Amino acid sequence: MHGTEGELSRAAERLRRASRVTVATGAGVSAASGVPTFRGAGGLWNDFRPEELATPEAFARDPRLVWEWYEWRRRRIAGCAPNRAHEVIAAWSRRYPRFTLVTQNVDGLHERAGTRNVVRFHGSIWELACWSGCPPGERWRDERELPEPPPRCVRCGGLARPGVVWFGEPIEAAVLRASLAALECDVFLVAGTSGVVYPAAGLADEARRRGAFTIEVNPEVTEATPRFDLALQGRAEDLFDRLEKELSSGSRLSSSQ
Ligand code: OAD
Repeated sequence: MHGTEGELSRAAERLRRASRVTVATGAGVSAASGVPTFRGAGGLWNDFRPEELATPEAFARDPRLVWEWYEWRRRRIAGCAPNRAHEVIAAWSRRYPRFTLVTQNVDGLHERAGTRNVVRFHGSIWELACWSGCPPGERWRDERELPEPPPRCVRCGGLARPGVVWFGEPIEAAVLRASLAALECDVFLVAGTSGVVYPAAGLADEARRRGAFTIEVNPEVTEATPRFDLALQGRAEDLFDRLEKELSSGSRLSSSQ
């Protein structure tokens, strides 16, 4: 079992000495909030096929079906609240002089926890974009229940799409730029992702190449685990809590010296 006291202390020591911290999260960080993950036990991709629901081709074929799935997820997420992992990450975002959160999650729970400097790598389920010909990149927020999917573009009245990144679509240039800038850090901590979807899965390797100390938080061993400097095996909501306690006890010690 990883996530032992010794490994936790090593991670906390790195975090204590760091001034530039980047955290990268995936679906596992929202699991304790009740948001289903994509892979593994209870994962969405066990019951649904990504190529029928999360590609531009699927949307072109059947926008109503795709929207019904997104609207089902939106309603489910609307009933979820941030957990301890979101809270600790939000606290770090206020504490570190340079902090970035790069999240693959589209649920908005990091923002609801008050996290600063969030880079939404795969977009947001609460945003919509025009599918019908308005300039790309423009999005609008709409958290209301969608009465009759598919919704319409607020500008041209054409078809609107979810403001998320689908399989086969590129990451927006500004998002990629912000993510690359966040690779220049002292600690790069990845939590709750299976590490199989690229380019997100390549960020930790690149950060490590540039000199960051890389840490993984996950209850399972992933494909990426061997490539991290340190792997903490456990749930994000537990490990972030323990790290935060360790960090605050450490700072009390050093301030009393
Ligand atoms: P996955 O569902 O692939 O992986 C979730 C990971 O979270 C797994 O490695 C689990 O072991 C781990 N996990 C489960 N419970 C956890 C907990 N309590 N604490 C920490 N970790 C836990 O989710 P992602 O890696 O985020 O893309 O998926 C990547 C992308 O694939 C998503 O952004 C989405 C999906 O298809 C698009 O929609 C483009």
